[in-house]
Amino acid sequence: MHAAVSDTRSAPRTPVPARGPDDWRFCVAPMMDWTDRHCRAFHRQLSRRARLYTEMVTTGAVLHGDLERLLGFDPLEQPVALQLGGSEPDALARSARIGEARGYAEINLNCGCPSERVQRGAFGACLMAEPALVADCVKAMRDAVSVPVTVKHRIGLGRDESYDLVRDFVGALHDAGCRVFVVHARNAWLDGLSPKENREVPPLRHAVAHRLKADFPDATVVLNGGLASLEQALAAQPGVDGTMLGRAAYHDPWQLAGVDARVYGEPGPVPTRAEVVERMIGYAADRRTQGVPLRAIVRHMLGLYHGRPGARAWRRTLSDARLLTGADEGLLARAMREVEAAAHEGEWHAPRSDATSVPAHRDADPT
Ligand SMILES: Cc1cc2nc3c(=O)[nH]c(=O)nc-3n(C[C@H](O)[C@H](O)[C@H](O)COP(=O)(O)O)c2cc1C
Repeated sequence: MHAAVSDTRSAPRTPVPARGPDDWRFCVAPMMDWTDRHCRAFHRQLSRRARLYTEMVTTGAVLHGDLERLLGFDPLEQPVALQLGGSEPDALARSARIGEARGYAEINLNCGCPSERVQRGAFGACLMAEPALVADCVKAMRDAVSVPVTVKHRIGLGRDESYDLVRDFVGALHDAGCRVFVVHARNAWLDGLSPKENREVPPLRHAVAHRLKADFPDATVVLNGGLASLEQALAAQPGVDGTMLGRAAYHDPWQLAGVDARVYGEPGPVPTRAEVVERMIGYAADRRTQGVPLRAIVRHMLGLYHGRPGARAWRRTLSDARLLTGADEGLLARAMREVEAAAHEGEWHAPRSDATSVPAHRDADPT
């Protein structure tokens, strides 16, 4: 059964134990401003097994910020990995410990973010040029926590497409005990491309992830980048341990409804979209008592009817600023009724051919 909506307050709790490489067979990518707790709660209604990641949280924020706001999450979201941004072994170790105490199932270090702000902080993708420092970070984090410490990285820097840099990077982290590598299979060009362009312009080279798996057979290698559907995520799995979907999962979340059966071979009913909405109505009602505006939840649900009759009505109702002002969860029920009515009237919102091509304002530079 899908997890019921549960209490949201984040007292320290025990992380879900790691079971093995299978845990990473299907992941939803960390995405700044997108994969917040409400997004993850929604995605969890669609798949029990997909591994979910937080947005990147910097060590500075963890060590000095409002922990409940930054790290609070609902146990129903598990398994959830906390992604950290930083480059100071001690600060990362302390942040990892805080994350583990909050119940996160994994601590992931971001070595792939290309944004200028992150470069100024000397972390993210530019860390790929400093394998010894990252190895120290990994060691410090591994000493601090018992949950898996993992790294998400690119396959190179700038226009240099030689394999050596990423092999030596992964090798150094492997020596430091890291055994899970999430490979965003493009270089990061750190000279003027926006983060959005850095997800589109540097060529995708999935073969590099396969080569890493061949060279580090005892490591869990998760391939990420440019996978536009669950179908493509499955097709890309031979030769790696798992695949990670980012934009496609966000814009067409129904992709996740196939994960448990098709990736994990788990029998069991797939909820209908209407059942998912019902559960989210319960979730939104619960959050309303804590002052969470409906908008913060439904903004992640706009793609639920992607490519289905009624998609336009659904999206229109749930993104109407006037309707959302002061709205309660009843608006979700209304949007569903409008979907049904539009479907009866024969509205057909044709699927976009490219699930990863999104309106610019939705994929704005998040960092
Ligand atoms: C809006 C947005 C925000 C992102 N934020 C992060 C982040 O915080 N940490 C990270 O490692 N990657 C981040 N990424 C990159 C994704 O995790 C992923 O590597 C990238 O989108 C490629 O996967 P895809 O082609 O399946 O989307 C972000 C991507 C998007 C679209």
